[in-house]
Amino acid sequence: MRISLSMTRMSLLFLFVVFTLNYHSQSDLIADTCKKTEFPEFCISTLRSNRRSASADVNGLARIVFEAGLAKATSTLNKVNLLLKKTTERILKQCLQICANVYDDALDNISQAIENVGSNNSQAVYYASEASINVEDCEESFDEEPNKRKSPLTGDNNVVDQLVNIGAAIVHPIG
Ligand SMILES: *[C@@H]1O[C@H](CO)[C@@H](O)[C@H](O)[C@H]1NC(C)=O
Ligand SMILES: *[C@@H]1O[C@H](CO)[C@@H](O)[C@H](O)[C@H]1NC(C)=O
Repeated sequence: MRISLSMTRMSLLFLFVVFTLNYHSQSDLIADTCKKTEFPEFCISTLRSNRRSASADVNGLARIVFEAGLAKATSTLNKVNLLLKKTTERILKQCLQICANVYDDALDNISQAIENVGSNNSQAVYYASEASINVEDCEESFDEEPNKRKSPLTGDNNVVDQLVNIGAAIVHPIG
């Protein structure tokens, strides 16, 4: 009885150590992975907010970041469509229409990036850079002289752009 009790304690201690080491190495993987990106803080907070990150490998981490980008792009497109309904001003409406179109492309491009992670990472990077161009096209549409407008989407565009940028940096093939 005494022995088995202490053995139970031993195995609990053992499990505790294993879990701790495991947790530690996974948080190192997230930190190390995010260090290689342009936005390490945002990378870390994005990954830590998803439970799947705890057991993901590097490709899995890239997928999680791209999925966050896809979710943000989807909500941004919804916002664009809402703004389009409310906007009567002609120039602003044209800009928003450009954003609706390029965000449609961005959703496809990010989905393609996700599909290619792990099987063809250079393709994943290619689609991510296409998505980045889509988002920049939206932002720049408000910046056309002589009809410059304040973009109502700068914050959203930056978040999507940064997420696809981080995803691409994570899968970027070495060499
Ligand atoms: C990705 O974006 C480009 C424009 O940058 C667009 O021409 C293309 O159709 C998009 N790709 C997909 C798969 O939608
Ligand atoms: C990745 O996809 C591109 C374009 O389809 C192709 O040219 C390339 O050979 C693929 N690479 C691998 C490793 O499959």
